[in-house]
Amino acid sequence: MDYTTLGRTGLRVSVAGLGCGGFSRLGLGTGGDEAGAIGILREALDLGVNLFDTAAAYGTEKVLGKALRGVPRERVVICTKAPFGVSNPNASPESAVASLDRSLKELGTDYIDVYQLHGVAPGAYDHAARVIAPALLREKEKGKFRHLGITETAPGDPDHAMVQRACHDGVWDVAMIAFHMMHQNARRHVFPLTRQYRVGTLMMFAVRNIFSRPERLAATMRELAADGEVPQALADNPDPLGFLVHNGGATSVIDAAYRFVRHEPGVDVVLFGTGDPAHLRSNIASILKPPLPEADHARLAELFGHLVGVGLDAPHLSRAGRVVNR
Ligand SMILES: NC(=O)c1ccc[n+]([C@@H]2O[C@H](COP(=O)([O-])OP(=O)(O)OC[C@H]3O[C@@H](n4cnc5c(N)ncnc54)[C@H](OP(=O)(O)O)[C@@H]3O)[C@@H](O)[C@H]2O)c1
Repeated sequence: MDYTTLGRTGLRVSVAGLGCGGFSRLGLGTGGDEAGAIGILREALDLGVNLFDTAAAYGTEKVLGKALRGVPRERVVICTKAPFGVSNPNASPESAVASLDRSLKELGTDYIDVYQLHGVAPGAYDHAARVIAPALLREKEKGKFRHLGITETAPGDPDHAMVQRACHDGVWDVAMIAFHMMHQNARRHVFPLTRQYRVGTLMMFAVRNIFSRPERLAATMRELAADGEVPQALADNPDPLGFLVHNGGATSVIDAAYRFVRHEPGVDVVLFGTGDPAHLRSNIASILKPPLPEADHARLAELFGHLVGVGLDAPHLSRAGRVVNR
């Protein structure tokens, strides 16, 4: 495993972080059971992963706590989240504190390393920063968590408006940001700011559905070509990103997707989610490989650098998974 420093938190974290949410929820979202989820978590630990991201909303805090039982607490970096944003935009400070207390209990730990507000929309940011954060910071003083973080709602905020404001505020030590091969605008809008303020960065959506389901990628290409946003040849090609897979290049589209995110300047941790032990191993291997060849990277920038809000699965999507209501 490779390790890096998570911005101004100073925490030493694995560059591959296991996401306990997403569609897989460690396999619990795809028909798996608790033993399987614990198996994934323990194997991740064995492979050197020390950062785990969960949330009250995922229903995986308890299983994470179980898997970490017996592991020296200082060996792991536990990130979890208070329900907020889309699911709970008018959250009260009391409910955020109650959620924090519940998370500590579920996880079976005395403190959380990074406590985040979950999916904060631009319109909810003032409430998050002026009302919720001060209440949580009082709990931080009591030792319940070490660093405050914030996660964006990618489908509702594809231009990263919320996190741009958050960087300037000095309250949030960590930000979770959507960035992938066909949604690259964090390079312009976010990473210069996170680097300036030394905000630690956790990346979500490296693969999601768009790169793990070939039919989703094909449908997205057709829609983008119809809008004149990508060359028609990509829509006509049954394997539109096949150009990335070659000797000396990526071994698969998913391999390319994780490597693309991992080596972007400004990225600290690439989160990945899975319920499949084979995917766990191959994803970690991908994240530890060198950058994609320069020519492939340049082609991805040329073809997709202008796209915004592609492949961010959640409500308000077109058939092909494109954000239609910003
Ligand atoms: N706003 C927020 O706070 C927010 C929003 C989204 C995500 N997140 C965080 O970010 C984490 C990562 O997001 P994500 O879970 O969507 O992860 P991801 O790595 O972008 O995508 C995971 C999806 O791809 C599949 N997959 C993974 N590796 C694969 C492989 N090698 N081959 C084929 N399919 C593969 C997984 O299914 P399998 O189970 O079959 O592997 C899963 O459906 C989440 O777990 C969560 O912690 C936070």
